[in-house]
Amino acid sequence: MALKYLPSYTMSMSFLVVFLGGLRVQAQDQSGFISIDCGAPADVNYTEPKTGINYISDANFVNTGVSGTIIPETINTVYQRQMMNVRSFPEGKRNCYRINITRGSTYLIRTNFLYGNYDGLNRAPQFDIHLGVNRWYTVNIGNASTPQVNEIIHVPSLDYLHICLVDTGHGTPFISAIELRTLKSDTYVTQFGSLEYHNRWDLGSNNSYRYDVDVYDRFWYSYGDNKDWKQISASIAADSFDQNHYKPPEIVLSTAVTPVNATAPLVISWEPQNPTELYYVYMHFTEIEVLPKNQTREFNITQNGKPWYQNLSPMHQSINTIYSRSGINGEKIEYSLEKTKNSSLPPIINAIEIYKVINFHQTDTHQGDVDALTTIKSVYGVTRDWQGDPCAPVAYSWDGLNCSYRGTENPRITSLNLSSSELSGTIDPTIANLIMLEKLDLSNNNLYGEVPDFLSRLQHLKMINLENNNLTGSIPSALVQKSKEGFLSLSVGQNPYLCESGQCNEKRKNKKNIVTLLLASVCGGLILLVAVAAVSWTLIKRKPNDLTVDQREMTPQCTEQDDSLHQFKKQLYSYSDVVRITNNFNTIVGKGGFGTVYLGYIGDTPVAVKMLSPSSVRGYQQFQAEVKLLMRVHHTNLTSLVGYCNDRDYKGLIYEYMANGDLQEHLSGKHNKSKFLNWEDRLRIAVDAALGLEYLQTGCKPPIIHRDVKSTNILLDEKFQAKLSDFGLSKIFPIDEETHVSTVVAGTPGYLDPDYYISNRLTHKSDVYSFGVVLLEIITSQPVIARNEERTHIIQWVGSLIANGDINAIVDSRLEGDFDINSAWKAVEIAMACVSLNPSERPMMRMIVTELKETLATELTRTKLIDPDIRRDSVEPVTFNLDTELTPLASIVPPELATGHMNMSKMGYTL
Ligand SMILES: *[C@@H]1O[C@H](CO)[C@@H](O)[C@H](O)[C@H]1NC(C)=O
Ligand SMILES: *[C@@H]1O[C@H](CO)[C@@H](O)[C@H](O)[C@H]1NC(C)=O
Ligand SMILES: *[C@@H]1O[C@H](CO)[C@@H](O)[C@H](O)[C@H]1NC(C)=O
Ligand SMILES: *[C@@H]1O[C@H](CO)[C@@H](O)[C@H](O)[C@H]1NC(C)=O
Ligand SMILES: *[C@@H]1O[C@H](CO)[C@@H](O)[C@H](O)[C@H]1NC(C)=O
Ligand SMILES: *[C@@H]1O[C@H](CO)[C@@H](O)[C@H](O)[C@H]1NC(C)=O
Ligand SMILES: *[C@@H]1O[C@H](CO)[C@@H](O)[C@H](O)[C@H]1NC(C)=O
Ligand SMILES: *[C@@H]1O[C@H](CO)[C@@H](O)[C@H](O)[C@H]1NC(C)=O
Repeated sequence: MALKYLPSYTMSMSFLVVFLGGLRVQAQDQSGFISIDCGAPADVNYTEPKTGINYISDANFVNTGVSGTIIPETINTVYQRQMMNVRSFPEGKRNCYRINITRGSTYLIRTNFLYGNYDGLNRAPQFDIHLGVNRWYTVNIGNASTPQVNEIIHVPSLDYLHICLVDTGHGTPFISAIELRTLKSDTYVTQFGSLEYHNRWDLGSNNSYRYDVDVYDRFWYSYGDNKDWKQISASIAADSFDQNHYKPPEIVLSTAVTPVNATAPLVISWEPQNPTELYYVYMHFTEIEVLPKNQTREFNITQNGKPWYQNLSPMHQSINTIYSRSGINGEKIEYSLEKTKNSSLPPIINAIEIYKVINFHQTDTHQGDVDALTTIKSVYGVTRDWQGDPCAPVAYSWDGLNCSYRGTENPRITSLNLSSSELSGTIDPTIANLIMLEKLDLSNNNLYGEVPDFLSRLQHLKMINLENNNLTGSIPSALVQKSKEGFLSLSVGQNPYLCESGQCNEKRKNKKNIVTLLLASVCGGLILLVAVAAVSWTLIKRKPNDLTVDQREMTPQCTEQDDSLHQFKKQLYSYSDVVRITNNFNTIVGKGGFGTVYLGYIGDTPVAVKMLSPSSVRGYQQFQAEVKLLMRVHHTNLTSLVGYCNDRDYKGLIYEYMANGDLQEHLSGKHNKSKFLNWEDRLRIAVDAALGLEYLQTGCKPPIIHRDVKSTNILLDEKFQAKLSDFGLSKIFPIDEETHVSTVVAGTPGYLDPDYYISNRLTHKSDVYSFGVVLLEIITSQPVIARNEERTHIIQWVGSLIANGDINAIVDSRLEGDFDINSAWKAVEIAMACVSLNPSERPMMRMIVTELKETLATELTRTKLIDPDIRRDSVEPVTFNLDTELTPLASIVPPELATGHMNMSKMGYTL
């Protein structure tokens, strides 16, 4: 009964006319929608009558391109209004739309193209579409009268989205409409990558639907005839129907298919173009008939012949969505729905969605650099064709820029050339934000005012050219000094009113005295050589600490959180205050890599005072600056910094006090006051810690990399709520302290990302790795590095046990099996994904949070407790409806683990 899907993932678009708008009683909310009619006149804003969707002109989203209208005679159908105009881009290689969105939300993004011979050339073009800095797909218009539509489910990482049309030399790019829809954020979650539309079928129906039948405006297509299937349908009363987060429309669910031969399986299969392509599948089921008492419908689902989900009995007036938790690939992908022995009725399926994973690898330019350039562009009204991302992809980087590209890091701007660009005004301070700048050329413009001192603070700057402007005053002595020492080539000629410091008076009279500080003499050359040697030596010596330097450039701005600790009005404490607060350092509550921690009281509130060893901390100013930044970071799952001491050599940090110490104490059970953590406690702690880390990564801009996630850095308050501590501290410590370099920059042995040894860089994925190790500790209560002779690493240890399929051997034996098996397998699976050797295979924190919450929910269903989002100390329990969205993992053993096909090479066993 196999059927083959169309190999192409371009949608057939006859639907634009046949789409049923539905029985619109009142217009649905379009709050998460952005619907753009490209090429429409600037102030256009209308409601398309068939769908009720509100479209606006693209004028506010793009600065280039020309409007056009399709020629009605070339098309043989009447399309909706948004398809009638186009914007085309005859000029420039890359033209971009910039659309403001909410970073971190899940979007369905759709681009629409109808050529309609708008240019009268009768030559349908081919061009590329980029989503941000990554190529998304190639538009290849085969037929002037057939629209092409592409769709992707994507979580943008910036506050705006660039959709760029790239001219690849096969005709002028154009676009008809862009549609963005916000989806619920815990739906369509992948381990990595975005989901490109492959198919979405309303099975058993002869109609196709979109908004406002579908609140998310997904397109549902009729599957059409299949001789092995029988269509069945019944009406579903929307008001008594129990929806889930995926919200497939009731009309779509009211039809289904079932095998004609009641004992045969129902098979859905396709052959991917490329067997390495990964697919995600979402199947929606509902029982559309009220079954008599003596009838049952129950079936198993297999995926490529292996059990995927067992004993499914779709519910009446409610929905089961069964979806992939990881991608599936192969020469052929086949799902088979087979009736179980007990079932009197054949299987049914109401709707199915199939997506293909697209993994975008290219990273955006460093956000600080982008912001700086955006400001510079607007301050000077730069007229160059600066669109999309400044550095990426390399082939389309902005004119006048050079960037550095290092592995998976964000590209940085190393050179800015705005020579002869008709700039006028003073030298803008924003330039100082381009921290990695090595060359700056502002020559041949009309700049006036002084040469600003901030230029001397750009540490990497090797060349400044300010020739032929009208700058005045004296050149900052720091620049002159650097130049004399051979660190900087400074050209300031043809600025008649400019003089070197201290010589300004003579200068006025002697116009010829043009200052050029390029080193030319033999003597200068010698100095240069020495200087170069000195620089290289310093670089070698300081290599690991470049990290620290990089971090310092960023000013984290984190999304607002409730600040429950506002009670501390004062933030800066003197040494004598600290002596008083700690009662002369009476009670030691901990010792860490950074110094000793004392118990203290501010008023009646207990605090933890961490005194830093005086020699190890950066200078007064830097310390103050970093601490003030950290003080702005607030989240329930991060220990709050409430004050600090910066009194001569005494430097200390004052944190909220965490009554129950650190996680490791409790896991090891070594301390007499430690509490035995049951499975639920452990999962809650894991969720808390994951939320803290997720916030550092996505709530802060630029993201804060913790660098030292470990179980002793997860602290527990009096309610055993977990908070991450010690984040951001690496920035406080100076470069040269050998001892601290190893603990601060390079994390802690056992938790350290193995990729660090290759790349020499710690990234947010390194934190994910360390978190995976912590999760394994939480599950097993084993030490990270065994105290046996082999010094077995916990990852190795767990890995060897997974193969045996015995979860009880993995989970802490002191739990005596008192945990949900599925929940435990899933936790193990999450942890093992986090510790993948290849950083790009480690899941995003967002995914980890979602999965851990599911794991907790599974455990709570067992213990009859309720919603994972409701903390145990809150008042009203709420019923958590786990039944409506099932993952195949609800079977006894996770399929990936049961089949013995786990790819061991993907895991970080080697350490
Ligand atoms: C378009 O018009 C609708 C209804 O008049 C209004 O609610 C909406 O804000 C307008 N949109 C824009 C972008 O002007
Ligand atoms: C997008 O956001 C930026 C910065 O917040 C703002 O300046 C711009 O006007 C916004 N664009 C549109 C089309 O709303
Ligand atoms: C283009 O598609 C239309 C149907 O949408 C069809 O009638 C026409 O023959 C096609 N033209 C070509 C050249 O394939
Ligand atoms: C769909 O069309 C086929 C024949 O064209 C018809 O037999 C069938 O009943 C229709 N199904 C529905 C649900 O209307
Ligand atoms: C129905 O399916 C069963 C199981 O696949 C098969 O054995 C039987 O021959 C089929 N009957 C017909 C009439 O095709
Ligand atoms: C179920 O019961 C009904 C009467 O209540 C009877 O007509 C029907 O044949 C029974 N079906 C089966 C499969 O036993
Ligand atoms: C369906 O799954 C159950 C549970 O694993 C199994 O016992 C049964 O044999 C399966 N039935 C079929 C028809 O594969
Ligand atoms: C250059 O600056 C001087 C002093 O500020 C001013 O008098 C002069 O007009 C400026 N020249 C030009 C060409 O702008």
